[in-house]
Amino acid sequence: MSMDFKIENVLSMNGGQTDSSYARNSCYQEISLRILQPYLEESIGQMKMVPCGRFCIADLGCAAGPNTLHVAQIICRAVQKKYKALGIGMPDLQVFFSDLPCNDFNLLFQSLPLSVPPDGRLQACHYFAAGVAGSFHNRLFPRSSLHFIHSSFSLHWLSRVPPEVENQMSSSWNGDRVYISKEGRVEVAEAYLRQFQEDLKSFLRARAEEVVEGGWMFLFFSGRAGACPRQQGGSGAVGDILELAFKDMVCEGVIERATRDSFNLPFFSPSALEVRELVEEDGSFLVKKMEFLSMDTEMKIQSDVDFGRMVAKQFRAILEVLIASYFGEHVVESLFQRFAERASQNASVLYNSLRQGGGILAIIERACTP
Ligand SMILES: C[S@@+](CC[C@H](N)C(=O)[O-])C[C@H]1O[C@@H](n2cnc3c(N)ncnc32)[C@H](O)[C@@H]1O
Repeated sequence: MSMDFKIENVLSMNGGQTDSSYARNSCYQEISLRILQPYLEESIGQMKMVPCGRFCIADLGCAAGPNTLHVAQIICRAVQKKYKALGIGMPDLQVFFSDLPCNDFNLLFQSLPLSVPPDGRLQACHYFAAGVAGSFHNRLFPRSSLHFIHSSFSLHWLSRVPPEVENQMSSSWNGDRVYISKEGRVEVAEAYLRQFQEDLKSFLRARAEEVVEGGWMFLFFSGRAGACPRQQGGSGAVGDILELAFKDMVCEGVIERATRDSFNLPFFSPSALEVRELVEEDGSFLVKKMEFLSMDTEMKIQSDVDFGRMVAKQFRAILEVLIASYFGEHVVESLFQRFAERASQNASVLYNSLRQGGGILAIIERACTP
């Protein structure tokens, strides 16, 4: 990607409520949320709550859709339960929904139950909602203003593709591939890992300023079980399919070879150890839980063709805006058609990689300064 192509200026999940929107194509994330809910409730149950007038929660990389609202409800209910059990005054709850500026905040706010009765008495689980646009690699909130941060399926997004991967003179050049591949150069995976480390460090530095002492972060994002960064699990398998679809488009002359060669996907699936090392090195947060969590979910599939179409739809909802910004809108329809075909031809490999996939669950507490 050329240096003036800034991911944070263009990235967003497909907005709206159409057939290709993220809101309608995030069932994998919805199933994962069901698996994560007990961990989320348990974490809040373990927090040390103190009397305060306002308990502030942020959802970073919230996108828009049913999952976003559901998460906010789960967190608010758990916080209220905890305050009730402790018998201390119930604070007002404030939820900050945060994402990059291109996110469909309109859809998000239109779906919120925002009304407060005129007598000012709040219903159970009412929260005050606000939107915050910006990158979580930078500061987003005032100092010591947040008690709990949630982020799901977002932190694997990088602030940029590592520049070495797109430099033909570098040993990390990724050539005609569009992502890390088991068969690709190890230097490519290492460059992605370095970029992830740089980004996570910035993320932790910013959050260390914003989270109150004793505040918690509940982070879940795409990750891998094994040690080798070349084995990217589900994302690696999707990258392989996308690479085949791009090859088809280049062979047919729809996309220029050089343009495809300069494109790479900006995400990385780390291991739990890689994340733990970064958190410990940073030192601002204490690790409460850090593990690879398998999301082993069975998918109901009628045929390989159906499977190919389903995966293409899910990843189109995630990648369409990014790909259209780089290659132009005219490539999107045929690219994802090729993707669906290639996914159905490789259905069993892709199915197994996605099914065995999972992510890193990192639950960390803001350390107290001595
Ligand atoms: C797959 S969506 C996850 C949405 C939701 N949390 C869920 O679990 O369904 C990933 C979100 O992360 C956001 N994102 C990626 N990089 C970001 C950054 N640097 N700062 C803020 N949001 C970011 C994207 O815009 C996108 O909305």
